[in-house]
Amino acid sequence: MAGLAVNVDHIATIREARKADYPDPVTAAMLAELAGADGIVVHLREDRRHIQDRDVRILRKVVQTKLILEMACTSEMVGIALDVKPDLVTLVPESREEVTTEGGLDLIIHNRSIGETIAALQNSGIPVSVFIDPESEQIRLAHKINANMIEIHTGVFCDAISQTAKTQAFNKIVDAAKLAHKLRLGVNAGHGICYNTIKAFKGLWEIDEFSIGHSIISRAVMSGMEKAVREMVSLIKELNKE
Ligand code: PXP
Repeated sequence: MAGLAVNVDHIATIREARKADYPDPVTAAMLAELAGADGIVVHLREDRRHIQDRDVRILRKVVQTKLILEMACTSEMVGIALDVKPDLVTLVPESREEVTTEGGLDLIIHNRSIGETIAALQNSGIPVSVFIDPESEQIRLAHKINANMIEIHTGVFCDAISQTAKTQAFNKIVDAAKLAHKLRLGVNAGHGICYNTIKAFKGLWEIDEFSIGHSIISRAVMSGMEKAVREMVSLIKELNKE
């Protein structure tokens, strides 16, 4: 059965919108684990727009399932990973201008530098996944440069509007998952998966784990909204009591 790794970046996005102390992604991670998550994911970005170094270090101490660190292939991030020792590093492309990770790593162009990063992390006992588009050449290269796992970028499928585009994109995911599994790579999948698009993955048993953030955090905000307002209304009512 596939697992679920919950990405708590956007709890930190809400916190950083006010540069406040709350909501804390560490607390959210604990609640996610209580609810049955198989892992916690954070993306420590170069610009620190959401997750901060402090979050990663505290999570390392308190996460009981597994801590997955998403990061760009830079010497700063490699240094942090070697120090923090997450249970898995997922290497992702990163650009400052993007709203979120926009596509997979291009292993055709960057196979040498990514291969060196994989080796450096693995030498310290940290397994490495590479976030790539569902393309056979990328998967074969991931295998060649010794990645432990791939994470298939599901964004094109999740964002597709027409049924034809959806079907085409999903077929690529299926082929990618099967090829990676055949090459004995672990197979994760993520980006843009919501309560609707997850249903398409029924029967695709080659996927080991889904990495999901935005839709879960969005649902958490909405399902908690009514309770949160009631609590504030009740505190305001208390103000008017003698
Ligand atoms: N996997 C990777 C590599 C990502 O960069 C992200 C977004 O941070 C996710 C999964 C989760 O995507 P979403 O927030 O759309 O569920």
